[in-house]
Amino acid sequence: MIQLFPSMIRVLALFTASSTACTTSTDSSCTPSGPVAARQLLQTIPAVLGREDQASHLDTQSLSDGVALRPHEGGPADVIQVDVALKAFFGADLHNEAWEGDLVLMLSWHDPRAAGLVPKEHQTRTLSQQQAQKLLWTPDVEVTNIELDGFQVISTSYVVSLDGVVNKTQRVLVKIKEDFDGKQFPYDEQALNVRLASTSYMVDDVQLVAAPGTNLTNPGAEVFDHSDWTYLGHGLTVFEEMTGTLRKSRAQFQIQLKRDATPYLSYTIFPEIMIVVLSYTVFLFPVTPAFAMPRVSSAVIAFLSILTISTRTTAMLPEVRRGLVWMELFEVTCKMLLFSVILLNILVEMVFHTWQQPELAVQLIKELRLGFPVVAGVSIAACWRAAGTRLELCCQLQRCGLLLVLVMFLISVIRRSRKYAALQEK
Ligand SMILES: *[C@@H]1O[C@H](CO)[C@@H](O)[C@H](O)[C@H]1NC(C)=O
Ligand SMILES: *[C@@H]1O[C@H](CO)[C@@H](O)[C@H](O)[C@H]1NC(C)=O
Repeated sequence: MIQLFPSMIRVLALFTASSTACTTSTDSSCTPSGPVAARQLLQTIPAVLGREDQASHLDTQSLSDGVALRPHEGGPADVIQVDVALKAFFGADLHNEAWEGDLVLMLSWHDPRAAGLVPKEHQTRTLSQQQAQKLLWTPDVEVTNIELDGFQVISTSYVVSLDGVVNKTQRVLVKIKEDFDGKQFPYDEQALNVRLASTSYMVDDVQLVAAPGTNLTNPGAEVFDHSDWTYLGHGLTVFEEMTGTLRKSRAQFQIQLKRDATPYLSYTIFPEIMIVVLSYTVFLFPVTPAFAMPRVSSAVIAFLSILTISTRTTAMLPEVRRGLVWMELFEVTCKMLLFSVILLNILVEMVFHTWQQPELAVQLIKELRLGFPVVAGVSIAACWRAAGTRLELCCQLQRCGLLLVLVMFLISVIRRSRKYAALQEK
């Protein structure tokens, strides 16, 4: 009897708390005020009395809201079933490393005390966020990898059923910080991650598990119909993470996507190839003093145009690239080809005007007309062969190869020029 006395006080405190909650709020839970309050009380009493032995350390303060304790307080961790669905996708920003979407978060847990909230003649009862905060225990599961201010709740509802299962369904607009790997841009594949964890409970208290039907909530390809992305697959994994005393059970929802490179092909890659082709035309001009200026200016203008286009590409790439990006490899190749055109052009002009060997100059232009398309074609095609870790290697090979070809050509020009000069002297 003496042992029961403290619990009676708690029950009394609970009763006064629930009755004051009902007189102050006007929600539907309170219309059948008497029976609901009584039933809620009845649901709570066994939980309190049954764990009297462990409950001695629980203060009356937390019990007075009746819901502050988790269902298995002092016992095993509470299991929360989680599921995430992507309702809409608003695009991924590789440069700022974030993506935006419309998510539905679904949580489900078992709390026998909550069954008391269901009106007598009903099977379930729906609660709003405000009502649930007053009447229910919630595991505080939130999205943890959001950007600053990147979380906006559209709707939240709690459905309590008679068997004590609480389902929380929340729709949110999120902006999520992502660690994108842009190395293969624009032929990259990315993963969008939504990470969930309880913001107040550690792994000993709250454990997340994937809801049984998780793989059924397919985000579907149609979510990505109006974006540059093709849907590849998705999954939900649950794991534990220990960082010092931060020991959390986390759930990670992941969607794999592949970028559609067509827009980048038409806006950046093809124009750059066209500029390289345009620069080649300087070798087609007649080798006469009248065409010296057009030849040099065409090559320089082509070089300036490609610099302009590449500033636009740089704006699309991530700030921190951790190495070379495919797009940069391609642009560097184009720039190197254009720069070679300028240098070769000046060489031809030098042979013609400075060294006074017009026949040799004509011969050189003929060789360049055939040789340049071959070298340019091989270099540009090599970009498409480079993938993964071979990007850097390919870039170095290309640079060395091009330099080697240029040096060999220069040496042959000098030797021929000497021979030519010797012939002229005779
Ligand atoms: C709660 O969610 C589970 C799936 O997680 C579902 O099977 C069940 O029908 C839902 N209950 C209610 C009352 O909506
Ligand atoms: C979903 O499917 C993946 C593989 O397709 C599997 O590894 C995972 O366990 C499944 N998840 C659930 C909750 O069934």
